[in-house]
Amino acid sequence: MDHFNYRGNALYAEDVPVTSIVAKWGSPCYVYSRATLERHFKVFDEAFANQPHRICYAVKANSNIAILSILAKLGAGFDIVSQGELERVLLAGGKPNDIVFSGVGKLVPELERAMEVGVGCFNLESPSELMRVNDIAKRLNIIAPISLRVNPDINVETHPYIATGLKENKFGIEYDQALPLLREARKLSNVKIVGIGYHIGSQLMQIQPFLEAFDRVGKLVDQCQEEGIVLTHLDIGGGLGVRYRDENPPSPADYIAAILKRLRHPQLELIMEPGRAIVANAGILVTRVEYLKKTSHKNFAVVDAAMNDLLRPSLYQAYQEIIPVINQSTDYQTWDIVGPVCETGDFLGKDRSLSLKEQDLLAIRTAGAYGFTMSSNYNSRPKIPEVLVDQDQMFLIRKRETYSDLTLHENLLPQGEL
Ligand code: LLP
Repeated sequence: MDHFNYRGNALYAEDVPVTSIVAKWGSPCYVYSRATLERHFKVFDEAFANQPHRICYAVKANSNIAILSILAKLGAGFDIVSQGELERVLLAGGKPNDIVFSGVGKLVPELERAMEVGVGCFNLESPSELMRVNDIAKRLNIIAPISLRVNPDINVETHPYIATGLKENKFGIEYDQALPLLREARKLSNVKIVGIGYHIGSQLMQIQPFLEAFDRVGKLVDQCQEEGIVLTHLDIGGGLGVRYRDENPPSPADYIAAILKRLRHPQLELIMEPGRAIVANAGILVTRVEYLKKTSHKNFAVVDAAMNDLLRPSLYQAYQEIIPVINQSTDYQTWDIVGPVCETGDFLGKDRSLSLKEQDLLAIRTAGAYGFTMSSNYNSRPKIPEVLVDQDQMFLIRKRETYSDLTLHENLLPQGEL
């Protein structure tokens, strides 16, 4: 459920007509609904009931500091994968102790900064990283809290680029190597083992693989207990899918209920790292039809947003629903919705039945996650604004980049070098 609905024939974001957002800040733009965002977070949070838990929102899904601050206020923790994300969370008022630091390639300065501010847990993905973390912690004279991200070797049905829990993927520590590595970690002077976890992939549509991973890693928890390795948390990762078209993802409540039913270690805090399921449906991308172009083979609607603004259709052949901002439902035809970028791969939707005329506005739904965060300046296109709607109010939470922003960090060669 979201708060982008028609009133009469006009699409609204909460109580604001989308047309008035475009009138103020132009097209294309991202529009987010605060009520949707908050509702999704609460659904996760409440499903855990009395079980100790922490929802660490995966910042990569949408890292705008206004979005992060809303989640921080609701009590969210954060799953980060870079210092850039860390600095955003801190700016937004997130507590360092509620942050878990994930990722296969954490750099020395990133780890130093994270230790200095007191990040709650380092999710480690290799023996070398364990040694690196211990060395830095020793140098900084602290004890770094660590968790191992285990690769449970579970097959999931999703796009191969976003499946992460198979042994051929780069992620996590091989299942059989986890216990030996924990034994090593226990001997080190400057790390403290606090947890264990996994993340098996993104946009997952079935509960079963999550449960298989949970059970497999649960066995490791048993083995830890037998060896006296004390864990305080189990991190079950993110990955719950959303509906882009006609998929039927499990509800967060059903998924979490199934996990709780199987939980054999209720003393452990459960950490979860959802990104998409919290923010995807809280956002739309609004774009304007510039040109209608008919060929003998195809009808193209060339719009002002492109693959640099929303990469998912091009990169993953992802389907995202496209609807009119003003619904005129007259002359339906089949259109490819394409952007101005000079690549055939630049499309936002193919073979869509829509009633279109030039200058119409369209909304691409479910664009709140991995939309703006994956956008780029390709073709020297300034990044587009982000607007947050809260009931009948709208806030510009990121302004449109200017043309001078594009070259801000570039230098011409000195005269003599030309
Ligand atoms: N935790 C870890 C360690 C992750 O790598 C990810 C996502 C998440 C949590 C959050 O997963 P989520 O709940 O959002 O599925 N750009 C792709 C998705 C990439 C996901 C990468 N990792 C897309 O647009 O579909």
